[in-house]
Amino acid sequence: SEPLRLGIAGLGTVGMGVVKIAQAHAAMLERRAGRPIKITAVSARDRTRNRDADLSGYAWENDPVALARREDVDLFIEVMGGDNGPAKASTEAAIATGKDVVTANKALLAHHGQALAETAESAGRVIRFEAAVAGGIPVVKALTEGLAANEIRRVMGVMNGTCNYILTRMESAGLAYDQVFEEARQLGYLEADPNLDVGGIDAGHKLSLLAAVAFGTRVSFDAVELEGIGRVSIDDIRRAADMGYRIKLLGVAQMTGRGLEQRMSPCLVPADSPLGQLQGGTNMVVLEGDSVGQIVLRGAGAGQGPTASAVMSDVIDIARGIRVSTFGQPAATLCDAIPAKATAP
Ligand code: NDP
Ligand code: HSE
Repeated sequence: SEPLRLGIAGLGTVGMGVVKIAQAHAAMLERRAGRPIKITAVSARDRTRNRDADLSGYAWENDPVALARREDVDLFIEVMGGDNGPAKASTEAAIATGKDVVTANKALLAHHGQALAETAESAGRVIRFEAAVAGGIPVVKALTEGLAANEIRRVMGVMNGTCNYILTRMESAGLAYDQVFEEARQLGYLEADPNLDVGGIDAGHKLSLLAAVAFGTRVSFDAVELEGIGRVSIDDIRRAADMGYRIKLLGVAQMTGRGLEQRMSPCLVPADSPLGQLQGGTNMVVLEGDSVGQIVLRGAGAGQGPTASAVMSDVIDIARGIRVSTFGQPAATLCDAIPAKATAP
Protein backbone atom coordinates (compact mmCIF):
# COMPACT_ATOMS: atom_id res chain seq x y z
CA SER A 1 0.00 0.00 0.00
CA GLU A 2 0.98 3.65 -0.46
CA PRO A 3 3.35 5.01 2.20
CA LEU A 4 2.37 7.99 4.33
CA ARG A 5 5.16 10.48 3.62
CA LEU A 6 6.21 12.74 6.50
CA GLY A 7 7.86 16.15 6.44
CA ILE A 8 9.31 17.11 9.83
CA ALA A 9 9.92 20.79 10.61
CA GLY A 10 12.16 20.95 13.69
CA LEU A 11 14.91 18.48 14.62
CA GLY A 12 15.35 19.32 18.29
CA THR A 13 14.26 17.32 21.34
CA VAL A 14 10.88 16.32 19.91
CA GLY A 15 11.72 16.19 16.20
CA MET A 16 14.69 13.88 16.75
CA GLY A 17 12.51 11.73 19.01
CA VAL A 18 10.12 11.31 16.08
CA VAL A 19 13.01 10.45 13.73
CA LYS A 20 14.32 7.88 16.23
CA ILE A 21 10.95 6.14 16.59
CA ALA A 22 10.39 6.15 12.81
CA GLN A 23 13.83 4.62 12.24
CA ALA A 24 13.81 2.13 15.11
CA HIS A 25 10.24 0.87 14.65
CA ALA A 26 9.55 1.11 10.90
CA ALA A 27 8.20 -2.45 10.63
CA MET A 28 6.03 -2.16 13.76
CA LEU A 29 4.61 1.19 12.65
CA GLU A 30 3.76 -0.26 9.23
CA ARG A 31 1.97 -3.21 10.83
CA ARG A 32 -0.04 -0.97 13.12
CA ALA A 33 -0.80 1.72 10.56
CA GLY A 34 -1.53 -0.71 7.73
CA ARG A 35 0.89 1.13 5.44
CA PRO A 36 4.54 2.22 5.55
CA ILE A 37 5.33 5.49 7.34
CA LYS A 38 8.31 7.18 5.73
CA ILE A 39 10.11 10.45 6.45
CA THR A 40 10.84 12.11 3.11
CA ALA A 41 12.01 15.60 4.07
CA VAL A 42 13.13 17.58 7.13
CA SER A 43 13.92 21.13 8.14
CA ALA A 44 15.87 22.84 10.92
CA ARG A 45 17.89 26.04 11.22
CA ASP A 46 21.39 24.62 11.25
CA ARG A 47 22.14 21.91 8.69
CA THR A 48 25.64 21.32 10.03
CA ARG A 49 24.61 20.48 13.59
CA ASN A 50 25.34 16.90 14.69
CA ARG A 51 21.98 15.35 15.56
CA ASP A 52 23.22 11.90 16.46
CA ALA A 53 21.20 10.10 13.75
CA ASP A 54 21.50 9.33 10.04
CA LEU A 55 19.45 11.94 8.18
CA SER A 56 21.12 11.36 4.80
CA GLY A 57 18.06 9.67 3.29
CA TYR A 58 15.84 12.72 3.77
CA ALA A 59 15.60 15.82 1.61
CA TRP A 60 16.64 18.99 3.47
CA GLU A 61 14.76 22.29 3.39
CA ASN A 62 16.09 25.40 5.11
CA ASP A 63 12.63 26.94 4.95
CA PRO A 64 9.83 25.08 6.79
CA VAL A 65 7.23 26.71 4.53
CA ALA A 66 8.95 25.13 1.51
CA LEU A 67 8.94 21.83 3.39
CA ALA A 68 5.22 22.15 4.06
CA ARG A 69 4.54 22.73 0.37
CA ARG A 70 6.57 19.78 -0.97
CA GLU A 71 4.70 17.37 -3.18
CA ASP A 72 6.45 14.37 -1.64
CA VAL A 73 5.05 15.23 1.81
CA ASP A 74 1.54 14.00 2.77
CA LEU A 75 1.67 14.86 6.47
CA PHE A 76 3.43 17.88 7.95
CA ILE A 77 4.86 17.56 11.46
CA GLU A 78 5.49 20.92 13.13
CA VAL A 79 7.87 20.57 16.08
CA MET A 80 9.77 23.87 15.90
CA GLY A 81 7.80 25.83 18.48
CA GLY A 82 6.78 29.49 18.64
CA ASP A 83 3.31 30.95 18.76
CA ASN A 84 3.70 32.71 15.42
CA GLY A 85 6.36 33.08 12.70
CA PRO A 86 7.54 29.97 10.83
CA ALA A 87 5.39 27.58 12.90
CA LYS A 88 2.18 29.38 11.92
CA ALA A 89 3.24 30.13 8.34
CA SER A 90 4.30 26.55 7.64
CA THR A 91 1.18 25.07 9.25
CA GLU A 92 -0.98 27.33 7.08
CA ALA A 93 1.07 26.40 4.00
CA ALA A 94 0.63 22.70 4.75
CA ILE A 95 -3.15 23.02 5.04
CA ALA A 96 -3.31 25.20 1.91
CA THR A 97 -1.47 22.53 -0.07
CA GLY A 98 -3.70 19.70 1.12
CA LYS A 99 -1.73 18.20 3.99
CA ASP A 100 -2.81 17.09 7.42
CA VAL A 101 -0.77 18.48 10.31
CA VAL A 102 0.51 16.96 13.54
CA THR A 103 1.99 19.40 16.04
CA ALA A 104 3.33 19.45 19.60
CA ASN A 105 3.10 23.24 19.65
CA LYS A 106 0.65 24.26 22.36
CA ALA A 107 1.68 27.94 22.17
CA LEU A 108 0.71 28.11 18.50
CA LEU A 109 -2.57 26.29 19.11
CA ALA A 110 -3.50 28.29 22.22
CA HIS A 111 -3.21 31.51 20.20
CA HIS A 112 -4.20 30.43 16.70
CA GLY A 113 -5.58 26.90 17.08
CA GLN A 114 -9.19 27.93 16.61
CA ALA A 115 -8.54 29.73 13.34
CA LEU A 116 -6.17 27.01 12.11
CA ALA A 117 -8.69 24.31 13.01
CA GLU A 118 -11.47 26.07 11.16
CA THR A 119 -9.26 26.57 8.10
CA ALA A 120 -8.29 22.90 8.21
CA GLU A 121 -11.90 21.84 8.65
CA SER A 122 -12.98 23.86 5.58
CA ALA A 123 -10.16 22.28 3.58
CA GLY A 124 -11.06 18.76 4.73
CA ARG A 125 -7.78 18.46 6.63
CA VAL A 126 -7.07 17.66 10.28
CA ILE A 127 -4.67 19.12 12.85
CA ARG A 128 -3.79 16.64 15.57
CA PHE A 129 -2.01 17.67 18.77
CA GLU A 130 -1.85 14.84 21.30
CA ALA A 131 1.73 15.83 22.22
CA ALA A 132 0.73 19.42 22.95
CA VAL A 133 -1.15 18.52 26.14
CA ALA A 134 0.67 16.63 28.90
CA GLY A 135 3.40 15.22 26.64
CA GLY A 136 3.27 11.42 26.55
CA ILE A 137 -0.11 11.07 28.29
CA PRO A 138 -2.81 10.26 25.68
CA VAL A 139 -5.30 12.67 27.20
CA VAL A 140 -6.72 14.13 23.97
CA LYS A 141 -7.50 10.62 22.74
CA ALA A 142 -8.97 9.70 26.13
CA LEU A 143 -11.43 12.57 25.74
CA THR A 144 -12.21 12.26 22.03
CA GLU A 145 -12.34 8.46 21.93
CA GLY A 146 -12.56 6.58 25.22
CA LEU A 147 -14.78 9.16 26.95
CA ALA A 148 -16.68 10.30 23.84
CA ALA A 149 -20.01 9.21 25.35
CA ASN A 150 -19.57 11.37 28.46
CA GLU A 151 -20.54 14.90 29.28
CA ILE A 152 -17.32 16.15 30.87
CA ARG A 153 -17.84 18.01 34.14
CA ARG A 154 -14.29 18.91 35.09
CA VAL A 155 -10.69 18.48 33.96
CA MET A 156 -7.78 19.24 36.22
CA GLY A 157 -4.14 18.44 36.62
CA VAL A 158 -0.45 19.16 36.73
CA MET A 159 0.56 19.82 33.12
CA ASN A 160 4.00 21.38 33.19
CA GLY A 161 6.91 19.02 33.78
CA THR A 162 9.42 21.81 34.35
CA CYS A 163 7.45 23.37 37.21
CA ASN A 164 6.74 20.03 38.82
CA TYR A 165 10.40 19.09 38.48
CA ILE A 166 11.55 22.36 40.04
CA LEU A 167 9.04 22.24 42.91
CA THR A 168 9.71 18.59 43.80
CA ARG A 169 13.51 18.65 43.43
CA MET A 170 13.81 21.81 45.52
CA GLU A 171 11.95 20.04 48.31
CA SER A 172 13.26 16.46 48.06
CA ALA A 173 16.90 17.19 47.25
CA GLY A 174 17.11 20.54 49.02
CA LEU A 175 18.68 21.99 45.88
CA ALA A 176 18.74 25.65 44.87
CA TYR A 177 16.44 26.91 42.12
CA ASP A 178 19.28 27.50 39.64
CA GLN A 179 20.56 23.95 39.99
CA VAL A 180 17.20 22.23 39.49
CA PHE A 181 16.43 24.59 36.61
CA GLU A 182 19.63 23.43 34.90
CA GLU A 183 18.68 19.79 35.50
CA ALA A 184 15.30 20.42 33.84
CA ARG A 185 17.10 21.92 30.86
CA GLN A 186 19.37 18.85 30.56
CA LEU A 187 16.29 16.62 30.55
CA GLY A 188 14.82 18.51 27.57
CA TYR A 189 11.83 19.78 29.56
CA LEU A 190 12.22 23.54 29.03
CA GLU A 191 10.52 25.64 26.41
CA ALA A 192 12.84 27.73 24.22
CA ASP A 193 11.64 30.62 26.42
CA PRO A 194 11.59 29.10 29.94
CA ASN A 195 9.49 32.02 31.19
CA LEU A 196 6.62 30.23 29.51
CA ASP A 197 7.20 27.31 31.91
CA VAL A 198 7.77 29.07 35.23
CA GLY A 199 5.23 31.79 34.42
CA GLY A 200 2.50 29.15 34.14
CA ILE A 201 1.84 30.21 30.55
CA ASP A 202 2.77 26.87 29.00
CA ALA A 203 0.49 25.06 31.45
CA GLY A 204 -2.22 27.64 30.69
CA HIS A 205 -1.84 26.93 26.97
CA LYS A 206 -2.37 23.24 27.66
CA LEU A 207 -5.36 23.84 29.90
CA SER A 208 -7.04 25.96 27.23
CA LEU A 209 -6.60 23.17 24.66
CA LEU A 210 -7.75 20.49 27.04
CA ALA A 211 -10.82 22.52 27.98
CA ALA A 212 -11.71 23.13 24.34
CA VAL A 213 -11.55 19.38 23.66
CA ALA A 214 -13.38 18.45 26.85
CA PHE A 215 -16.19 21.00 26.80
CA GLY A 216 -16.64 21.82 23.11
CA THR A 217 -15.68 25.46 23.58
CA ARG A 218 -13.58 27.64 21.34
CA VAL A 219 -9.93 27.68 22.42
CA SER A 220 -9.85 30.57 24.90
CA PHE A 221 -6.36 30.97 26.32
CA ASP A 222 -7.03 34.63 27.16
CA ALA A 223 -9.80 33.48 29.50
CA VAL A 224 -7.45 31.38 31.68
CA GLU A 225 -6.84 32.87 35.16
CA LEU A 226 -3.07 32.49 35.30
CA GLU A 227 -0.33 32.53 37.93
CA GLY A 228 3.06 30.80 37.66
CA ILE A 229 5.52 29.52 40.27
CA GLY A 230 7.73 32.63 40.20
CA ARG A 231 6.54 33.77 43.64
CA VAL A 232 6.87 30.34 45.28
CA SER A 233 9.93 30.34 47.55
CA ILE A 234 11.81 27.49 49.19
CA ASP A 235 10.34 28.75 52.50
CA ASP A 236 6.81 28.37 51.11
CA ILE A 237 7.66 24.82 50.04
CA ARG A 238 9.06 23.98 53.49
CA ARG A 239 6.15 25.56 55.37
CA ALA A 240 3.69 23.61 53.19
CA ALA A 241 5.65 20.39 53.89
CA ASP A 242 5.54 21.06 57.64
CA MET A 243 1.74 21.18 57.42
CA GLY A 244 1.59 17.96 55.34
CA TYR A 245 1.06 19.69 51.99
CA ARG A 246 2.91 20.19 48.73
CA ILE A 247 2.69 23.08 46.31
CA LYS A 248 1.67 22.13 42.77
CA LEU A 249 1.00 24.25 39.72
CA LEU A 250 -2.54 22.99 39.27
CA GLY A 251 -4.95 23.68 36.44
CA VAL A 252 -8.72 23.34 36.71
CA ALA A 253 -11.33 23.81 34.00
CA GLN A 254 -14.97 23.25 34.77
CA MET A 255 -18.35 24.00 33.31
CA THR A 256 -20.40 26.15 35.67
CA GLY A 257 -23.86 27.69 35.40
CA ARG A 258 -22.15 30.82 34.04
CA GLY A 259 -19.98 29.02 31.51
CA LEU A 260 -16.48 27.55 31.38
CA GLU A 261 -14.01 28.53 34.11
CA GLN A 262 -10.28 27.93 33.58
CA ARG A 263 -7.65 28.53 36.26
CA MET A 264 -3.93 27.67 36.47
CA SER A 265 -2.16 28.55 39.72
CA PRO A 266 0.06 27.21 42.53
CA CYS A 267 -2.13 25.22 44.95
CA LEU A 268 -1.64 23.35 48.20
CA VAL A 269 -2.42 19.65 47.87
CA PRO A 270 -2.12 17.00 50.61
CA ALA A 271 1.38 15.50 50.46
CA ASP A 272 0.02 11.94 50.61
CA SER A 273 -2.56 12.43 47.81
CA PRO A 274 -1.86 11.19 44.24
CA LEU A 275 -1.23 14.79 43.16
CA GLY A 276 1.00 15.41 46.16
CA GLN A 277 3.04 12.31 45.33
CA LEU A 278 3.76 13.46 41.77
CA GLN A 279 7.54 13.74 41.34
CA GLY A 280 9.86 15.22 38.72
CA GLY A 281 8.64 15.89 35.19
CA THR A 282 5.59 13.71 35.68
CA ASN A 283 2.15 15.10 34.79
CA MET A 284 -1.24 14.03 36.10
CA VAL A 285 -4.58 14.74 34.47
CA VAL A 286 -7.91 14.05 36.18
CA LEU A 287 -10.99 13.80 33.96
CA GLU A 288 -14.53 13.71 35.33
CA GLY A 289 -17.35 12.48 33.09
CA ASP A 290 -21.04 12.13 33.95
CA SER A 291 -21.16 8.40 33.18
CA VAL A 292 -17.61 7.21 33.78
CA GLY A 293 -16.90 9.17 36.99
CA GLN A 294 -13.29 10.08 37.63
CA ILE A 295 -10.34 8.92 35.47
CA VAL A 296 -6.74 9.65 36.48
CA LEU A 297 -3.94 9.62 33.92
CA ARG A 298 -0.33 9.91 35.03
CA GLY A 299 2.91 9.85 33.07
CA ALA A 300 5.77 11.74 31.54
CA GLY A 301 4.63 15.18 30.48
CA ALA A 302 7.82 16.23 28.73
CA GLY A 303 11.05 14.91 27.25
CA GLN A 304 12.07 13.31 23.99
CA GLY A 305 10.63 9.79 24.11
CA PRO A 306 7.27 10.59 25.71
CA THR A 307 6.54 13.56 23.46
CA ALA A 308 7.59 11.76 20.28
CA SER A 309 5.42 8.82 21.35
CA ALA A 310 2.40 11.14 21.35
CA VAL A 311 3.32 12.73 18.01
CA MET A 312 3.67 9.30 16.40
CA SER A 313 0.33 8.13 17.81
CA ASP A 314 -1.32 10.95 15.83
CA VAL A 315 0.70 10.00 12.75
CA ILE A 316 -0.49 6.39 13.04
CA ASP A 317 -4.12 7.52 13.39
CA ILE A 318 -3.85 9.59 10.23
CA ALA A 319 -2.13 6.73 8.38
CA ARG A 320 -5.06 4.52 9.41
CA GLY A 321 -7.52 7.07 8.02
CA ILE A 322 -8.87 8.17 11.41
CA ARG A 323 -9.87 11.79 10.85
CA VAL A 324 -11.62 12.93 14.02
CA SER A 325 -12.33 16.66 13.77
CA THR A 326 -9.60 18.74 15.37
CA PHE A 327 -11.13 19.83 18.65
CA GLY A 328 -13.54 16.92 18.82
CA GLN A 329 -16.53 18.55 17.14
CA PRO A 330 -17.32 20.88 14.22
CA ALA A 331 -16.37 24.54 14.66
CA ALA A 332 -19.94 25.68 14.06
CA THR A 333 -21.17 23.94 17.23
CA LEU A 334 -18.60 25.47 19.60
CA CYS A 335 -19.30 28.02 22.33
CA ASP A 336 -17.06 30.54 24.14
CA ALA A 337 -15.44 30.33 27.56
CA ILE A 338 -16.25 33.05 30.09
CA PRO A 339 -13.58 35.78 30.23
CA ALA A 340 -10.86 35.54 32.91
CA LYS A 341 -11.89 38.62 34.87
CA ALA A 342 -15.44 37.34 35.29
CA THR A 343 -14.46 34.12 37.11
CA ALA A 344 -14.79 33.90 40.89
CA PRO A 345 -11.59 34.40 42.93
P1 NDP B 1 13.93 22.44 20.44
O1 NDP B 1 14.34 23.83 20.74
O2 NDP B 1 14.69 21.30 21.03
O3 NDP B 1 13.92 22.22 18.85
C1 NDP B 1 13.39 23.15 17.96
C2 NDP B 1 13.79 22.73 16.56
O4 NDP B 1 13.16 23.61 15.62
C3 NDP B 1 15.29 22.82 16.30
O5 NDP B 1 15.71 21.71 15.54
C4 NDP B 1 15.46 24.10 15.48
O6 NDP B 1 16.54 24.05 14.56
C5 NDP B 1 14.14 24.08 14.72
N1 NDP B 1 13.74 25.43 14.30
C6 NDP B 1 13.48 26.51 15.04
N2 NDP B 1 13.15 27.56 14.27
C7 NDP B 1 13.23 27.13 13.01
C8 NDP B 1 13.04 27.74 11.74
N3 NDP B 1 12.71 29.01 11.64
N4 NDP B 1 13.19 26.98 10.64
C9 NDP B 1 13.53 25.68 10.72
N5 NDP B 1 13.73 25.05 11.89
C10 NDP B 1 13.58 25.76 13.01
O7 NDP B 1 12.38 22.33 20.83
P2 NDP B 1 11.57 21.05 21.34
O8 NDP B 1 11.83 19.92 20.45
O9 NDP B 1 11.77 20.91 22.80
O10 NDP B 1 10.06 21.57 21.17
C11 NDP B 1 9.45 21.62 19.90
C12 NDP B 1 7.97 21.86 20.08
O11 NDP B 1 7.41 20.80 20.85
C13 NDP B 1 7.64 23.15 20.84
O12 NDP B 1 6.44 23.66 20.33
C14 NDP B 1 7.41 22.66 22.26
O13 NDP B 1 6.55 23.49 22.99
C15 NDP B 1 6.76 21.33 22.00
N6 NDP B 1 6.86 20.36 23.08
C16 NDP B 1 8.07 20.08 23.62
C17 NDP B 1 8.18 19.12 24.62
C18 NDP B 1 9.47 18.78 25.25
O14 NDP B 1 9.45 17.99 26.21
N7 NDP B 1 10.59 19.29 24.77
C19 NDP B 1 6.99 18.41 25.11
C20 NDP B 1 5.75 18.79 24.44
C21 NDP B 1 5.72 19.73 23.46
P3 NDP B 1 18.08 23.92 15.06
O15 NDP B 1 18.17 22.55 15.69
O16 NDP B 1 18.88 23.99 13.81
O17 NDP B 1 18.31 25.02 16.03
N1 HSE C 1 8.10 22.72 28.75
C1 HSE C 1 7.07 21.75 28.83
C2 HSE C 1 7.00 21.19 30.22
C3 HSE C 1 7.31 20.67 27.83
O1 HSE C 1 7.92 21.40 31.01
O2 HSE C 1 6.01 20.53 30.55
C4 HSE C 1 6.14 19.73 27.69
O3 HSE C 1 5.03 20.35 27.15
